[in-house]
Parts: sequence; structure tokens; C-alpha cells
Amino acid sequence: MTGKGPRDYEDLIVYMNGEYVPWADATVHVFSPAVKYGAGVFEGIRGYWSEARGEMLIFRLEDHLKRLEYSQKVMGFERIVTADELAEPILEMMRRNAFTEHVHIRPTVFVEGDGESSAKGPVGVSITAVRRPKKAFVETGCRAQVSSWQRIADTAMPTRVKANANYNNSRMAALQASKDGYDTAIILNSRGQVSEGPAMCFFMVRDGRPVTPSITSNILESITRATIIELLGNDLDAATVERDVDRSELYAAEEAFFCGTAWEVSPVVSIDGMPVGTGEVGALTRKLQSVYFDLVTGVTNDDRGWLTAV
Ligand SMILES: Cc1ncc(COP(=O)(O)O)c(C=O)c1O
Repeated sequence: MTGKGPRDYEDLIVYMNGEYVPWADATVHVFSPAVKYGAGVFEGIRGYWSEARGEMLIFRLEDHLKRLEYSQKVMGFERIVTADELAEPILEMMRRNAFTEHVHIRPTVFVEGDGESSAKGPVGVSITAVRRPKKAFVETGCRAQVSSWQRIADTAMPTRVKANANYNNSRMAALQASKDGYDTAIILNSRGQVSEGPAMCFFMVRDGRPVTPSITSNILESITRATIIELLGNDLDAATVERDVDRSELYAAEEAFFCGTAWEVSPVVSIDGMPVGTGEVGALTRKLQSVYFDLVTGVTNDDRGWLTAV
């Protein structure tokens, strides 16, 4: 990587409760419900550095911050840190760090103090960003395992919100996949149907048509998923079918990929050791990647108003 901007964690500037502080000072107390019970909610947002434009472009900032408001509402915090309150500190934190590479931005709203697991406040806010290049899987594809861990049910934890505590579920599936020699996992829901991967949504192609589990499959209502549905339908003339997906259908797929802010569009080349289609990255997936990356890096016109320049 060749960009300027902070090279090491020690050089980062972090937004913490109204102030811009050095990385070493961005701390949370061990007594806090955030640490004790995972009482926090967050967003993962990508900033794409455009070399051609010489500027940083944040993808769907407003949509991420609206989802963060919803997460706080569901988790019952004593006050909601709004999208309007967070937008400027995010931009200012980005300016102060002066990144010139792709980054991953993470605003977190969490419970400070020393309360029980049901404490509603005091509410703390942090915003961090770190350099984050494309995952290697974007080019090579990844090998997925259907996990024996089940996706949390919406009757157990609110699956639609990005609550920190939810991520122990993804963690178990990712750990198992890695221990068993796979790159990642596909997690089934409590009805035994495909839900999502650890922090990414799942698409497959069957009989030439993109298919993805519906939003009532215990998935996170992913912003990338919505983006992909729009790009497939509008730009690639391949409307997505949103429906339940059975496990055995995975082995019949012609193509498959994960999508998410972190995973972008990452092809799946095998599932449970069986090749997906030919075992190579599929043609529609490659076309979609090209449309997606041109959009997020500002190569194509941002007609939908999804890019915020820092
Ligand atoms: C559990 C989970 N599913 C799916 C996704 C993909 O969501 P998005 O596209 O909004 O990043 C994420 C976040 O990256 C996630 O944490």
C-alpha cells in the first residue's frame, strides 16, 4: 500500500464523546455495560479513496447512520445519537486522519458507567477508521462451509440491528469454518434455511437468476444487499428473487457470492467441498463486481446520490 495518512494504529485520530483524541486515549472502562455485556451498537461503513478525483468517497453514509438510529431504538438506549449528529464528526475524523487509501469506518454507540445489562445509559459515542484494502477473496473467491452453528433467531436477539453482542454468533461460525479448513461459513436459520454468512449476505444464481434469502430469514437488512439487488436489476437486467433458500439448493447453484460492506462482492467457489458451478468465479458475479466497484469508487456517475465526498 502506498497511500499517505496514518500508517499505524498509534497514529490514528479517534472521535470519542465529542473530542478528537489519539488512539491511545480512546478507551472504555471495564466496568461499562459495553464491556461487560456487549451493550453497544455500531455501523461498518466504507470510505473509498479515488485516486482520479483525489478525494475520499463514503458509500451510503446516510443509510448507515439511519440504520444506527434504528439499532439504538431497538436496544433501548436512553437517547438516540442521530444521523445528523454523527455525519459531521465522521467527516471531521476523516479529515484529521487524512487517509489516501480505502478505509473502514466504524461509529459505535455504547453504554458507559457501571450498570446492569439492562442499563440504558450514559450513552457514549466513538468513531474510528482504519485502512482496509479489498479482501483477497474478491479476486480468488472463497470456500464456504455450511455451519453447524445456527443464525440467532429474531425471537432471541434482534437480528436486524447491528448490536455488538450479536457478533458472537458470527464468531462461532467463523471459528468453526477456519478450524475445519474453510475460508468462511454459510449459516442456516432456526427454520433450517439459509440465512447469511458471518457479517455478509448471500446470493446464488439458479437457472440464470440471482436468488437471495428474504429479509425474514434472520438476516441483517444489509445495505450492500439492497445495493446489489438494485444493480443486478437496473444495470445487469437480472432481477433478484428474494425467497427462502434450502441447504440442498446451495449444491445446485451455478454461481454464488457474499456481499457486505466489508466483504463487498466476494465470490463463493465451493460449498462444503463441492464446487459451485464450474468451481471458477461466475460470469454474472464478475460483471456485478465491475459495476459495484466502479460505483463505490466514483468511476461511474453517482446518480443515486450514494457517495459523500469528505
Ligand atoms: C450480520 C451481518 N450481516 C450482513 C452484513 C452486511 O451488511 P451491510 O451490507 O449493511 O454491510 C453485515 C455487515 O457488514 C453484518 O454484520
